[in-house]
Amino acid sequence: MGTDRARSATWEASPNIALVKYWGIRDPALNLPYNSSISLTLRRLRTRTTVELAPEGADDRLILNGVSAEGRPLESVRRFLDRIRERAGDRRPAVVRSHNNFPTASGLASSASGFAALAAAAAEAYGLTVSRRELSRLARLGSGSASRSIFGGFVEWRRGDRRDGRDSYARPLFDERYWPAFRDLVVVVGDAREKSVRSQDAMQATVRTSPEFDRRQRELPGRLAKIRAALRRRDPDELFPLIMEECDSFRTVCETTVPSLDYLSRTSRAVLDEVRALNAEAGRPIAAYTHDAGAHLHVFTLAKDARTVRARLRGVPGVRRTWLLEAGPGVRPTHARVP
Ligand code: DP6
Repeated sequence: MGTDRARSATWEASPNIALVKYWGIRDPALNLPYNSSISLTLRRLRTRTTVELAPEGADDRLILNGVSAEGRPLESVRRFLDRIRERAGDRRPAVVRSHNNFPTASGLASSASGFAALAAAAAEAYGLTVSRRELSRLARLGSGSASRSIFGGFVEWRRGDRRDGRDSYARPLFDERYWPAFRDLVVVVGDAREKSVRSQDAMQATVRTSPEFDRRQRELPGRLAKIRAALRRRDPDELFPLIMEECDSFRTVCETTVPSLDYLSRTSRAVLDEVRALNAEAGRPIAAYTHDAGAHLHVFTLAKDARTVRARLRGVPGVRRTWLLEAGPGVRPTHARVP
């Protein structure tokens, strides 16, 4: 139950990049996916979110990177807080301050880190005692991919089978110390367009219209098993081709959606070609590309090959910058003030 004392909590979470994509919702109200997905949580990039309870009667407020937000972002935060308030039996509104240390509009999955940090900060501020598993279920309600940012390192979100969604949450596969040489080179392209359709809506269009969606669903259990096994063996020769195969499968269902979802730019396509060329020249897979619903790329490689891969991809015309990232931790409390 709520107390009269104003409560405030601040948590941080990092974005994750999917090795196996979540793309398809079987229950929109509960954000339940058709398929399980696997991701890597990233170091260095983070969202820091403070939830501060306000006196009853005030409105919820959302301040994103210092600017008061309205419209859809505020609406989705309010809906999320409503679920927390209902559980806590506390009707007080809240001021949510959220700050990303990376560009929000860069298409680098700020909804994953955003809802993971919000779930943890709101749960604490409203006095809910919840396990990480429960936090993952809560974060899922805000944004599917956020369920995975609760944990560090390699994470799997199991789709679950129950209609009430209680078995649809993420769990750690291998923590952030498991494969120290593993790197994610984020390639930011200069010709990315603003995303016009929310991923939640775009993936429902894919389920309805892509003739390739069923085939992808049939392939996924096998691919998930192979990717888990390759991670278990820390074997890039096995893992990297599977990651690219999965990315290509995701891109195919997007491109065959009606109307077509075309997330890549000229520069991104040139980067994919360059990764293929690098692997062909090396005679083995030294890098693996992937991307989400946007034009920027994530290129996995190992520490020993990172310089070569980075130098080559920086040379692709249209590449604006690259960040070389390692595996990072799950959601964590912080006592620092929000800048
Ligand atoms: C392509 O769960 O991030 O990144 O709820 O609209 O924010 P929203 O969608 P989200 O969708 C993620 C789609 C993806 C694949 C993935 O991360 O698994």
